[in-house]
Amino acid sequence: MQDRLWEIVELNPRADEQLHYETLFTIGNGYLGTRGSFEEGLPGDSPATLVHGIYDHAPGMLVPELVNVPNWLPVSIFIDGAPFKMVTKTTDIMRPPEGIVLGYRRALNMRRGILTREVLFRAPSGSVVRLEFERFASLSDIHILAQRIRITAVDGNPHIRVESAIDGDVTNMGVRHFLPEVNVDDRGDTIGVEVKTQQSRYIVGVGSRLISPHRIQTGSTGNRPYTVTSFDLAQEDWVVLDKFSSIYTSRDALQPLDTAQAKISEAVAAGYETLRERHEGEWATYWETADIQIDGDDEAQRALRFTTYHVLIAAPRTDERVSIGAKTLSGMGYKGHVFWDTELFCVPPLILAQPKLARNLLMYRYHNLPGARNKARANGYEGAMFPWESTDTGEETTPQWSDPQPDGSRIRIWTGEREQHISTDITYAIDKYWRWTGDDEFLIKYGAEMILDTAVFWGSRVEHKDGRYELSQQIGPDEYHENIDNSVFVNRMVVWHLRTALSVLAWLMGSAPADAERLIGALNLTPERLAKWNDIIAKMYIPFDHEQGIHVQFPGFFDMEYIPVPHYEPRTTSVQAILGHARSIQTQVIKQADVVMLMALLGENVGAPDGLDVRQVMLNNWNTYYPRTDHGSSLSPAMHAWVGARLGLTEVAYDMFDHAVHIDLNDNKGNVRDGIHAAACGGVWQAVIFGFCGLSIDEAGDLQVDPHLPEHWRSVTFNVYYRGEQRTFTVKNPALVSSATR
Ligand code: BGC
Repeated sequence: MQDRLWEIVELNPRADEQLHYETLFTIGNGYLGTRGSFEEGLPGDSPATLVHGIYDHAPGMLVPELVNVPNWLPVSIFIDGAPFKMVTKTTDIMRPPEGIVLGYRRALNMRRGILTREVLFRAPSGSVVRLEFERFASLSDIHILAQRIRITAVDGNPHIRVESAIDGDVTNMGVRHFLPEVNVDDRGDTIGVEVKTQQSRYIVGVGSRLISPHRIQTGSTGNRPYTVTSFDLAQEDWVVLDKFSSIYTSRDALQPLDTAQAKISEAVAAGYETLRERHEGEWATYWETADIQIDGDDEAQRALRFTTYHVLIAAPRTDERVSIGAKTLSGMGYKGHVFWDTELFCVPPLILAQPKLARNLLMYRYHNLPGARNKARANGYEGAMFPWESTDTGEETTPQWSDPQPDGSRIRIWTGEREQHISTDITYAIDKYWRWTGDDEFLIKYGAEMILDTAVFWGSRVEHKDGRYELSQQIGPDEYHENIDNSVFVNRMVVWHLRTALSVLAWLMGSAPADAERLIGALNLTPERLAKWNDIIAKMYIPFDHEQGIHVQFPGFFDMEYIPVPHYEPRTTSVQAILGHARSIQTQVIKQADVVMLMALLGENVGAPDGLDVRQVMLNNWNTYYPRTDHGSSLSPAMHAWVGARLGLTEVAYDMFDHAVHIDLNDNKGNVRDGIHAAACGGVWQAVIFGFCGLSIDEAGDLQVDPHLPEHWRSVTFNVYYRGEQRTFTVKNPALVSSATR
């Protein structure tokens, strides 16, 4: 196996890029994520470990956020009394005052789920040591975190002292989430920290043990218990130190710290190599179904593995009460909140590659139905209305105001109230999961209730005016235009939703009549209600310009100022930032795929009025909206790649794909320090499979491919899970297709 195409490598560390690399080099296992910060720390760094479901609403904050839990990484190494640190500039390479890094390589191996760093370091004393760090968050046992440090005396006979610690004084960029009473355990070989969040009262226990061939001593300073070991190294000699850590919370154990410490004994007994082998074994099973192989484009191959890796480490393996936040568990962006990014961008790849993970994510929404019902009621509607931003409670957690702008003012955020399409996005993911997996049990027990109760919401939400149905005061995917009437995306998707609800109900009546009865009773699906759904389907207003043959994003859109977005290239920021918020909302600049998103989701089913060719309408839509789109959201380029490929616009589709797949690697948005863009990661997977390869289910229920590969791609090989079977496809360029059932 060529690991070159499985690695992200950093060779020239720069202080101003470290926050970016910390995010890229996040390790995780669906339970937690730990940013790739250095063991010894770095001024200005931002180490963080985020655990799914551990949110807290600190005093003075507008909304709850995922909590940065005590840091298990710290390892400080002293060489002849002076600390090893990443010093890369010095005037005297032979007698550097603070030491100097003579060689450096850091690599994330995505196949193995392992982060390594090798450093050749000259200490101020003149001794040269090679330091090799390795770490992983076990995928086979999600509570085990392992680090290995190998220290080799390359030149000189240095005295080495190593201090391994847990840092209990962590904050979310200054915001403290823990109560002042911290339980610090430095009594035995396994040190520990136990903390409790202020408002939500979650307990988090972190244990850690350093294994050294030399004597160890433990102690603590404040909320930082540590273990120390020291020894002399003869030239050419080396030592290997292992650090095992474990995290439990009150969400998964009654006594989190005790349980973590017991887990560490288990880890120590198994030994580092065995744990690593099991971890790699688990990764191999992930990749067996999740890897997409692109022949003819090494860079796309590597980048696509990177995006897939980040979806996989963010997806909960065993817990169905948590979900993937917009920035995964790799940074504090969007406060760890869950958006439509999960259902429309991350869930579809998982349905096809790891359906169990997709199911967990859908169950998160099922468990949060009470919150969705509360939201509907609080707004005067019926049924279930899912929150735009969701955390552990299922209640709406979108802040109403932005953080202060440079001039101190705050901008009103309307999405929590008006971006209502989230309920339909969730329905879309459930329907997709059901159709691809054939998991009838899920639909009967959980999925149908969500699809139907969100349909009840829409039935109560629509407005009947002049013989047609309308939806006022909405926000579609294009968030630059807020509180608009009759977003074509929303209106058309609601029609799709109600149709889906009716057909699911019909299916239930035939296949699980008792469950159909149960839901008809519980959700009050009266004949009048169902008749209204049919009426809405027939009479929903779908804004369309017959002259141009296009869907109209919303009535009035084309009356606003036209700004040719391509004229603003090259740019490193959004057109909105260039024009300013107040002006851009009065222009035709679109934040992200909106009508294009509708075409991604519905394909040719987007429909066209009688007499018009739907393919032509789709092309017209593309030609209209593509030049107006800013891609101010990272969600946008991958959707354009998908739709562009379906329309045969392979060149522009490839440009969009290339942009999307590098959003994080190249920091295309300049904000990767805040976390990985989860939706872009899931989006590129879909762009390749549904866009370039054109995978779909045909009328007869068979899988079909219809490739439009970029010119230089020789072939794409991928696996999909379809109705209980694992299938492998190789899509060749030009369109030579073979499929095999394994
Ligand atoms: C996008 C939304 C997205 C959110 C979180 C916003 O900028 O416009 O579509 O859900 O970011 O990623």
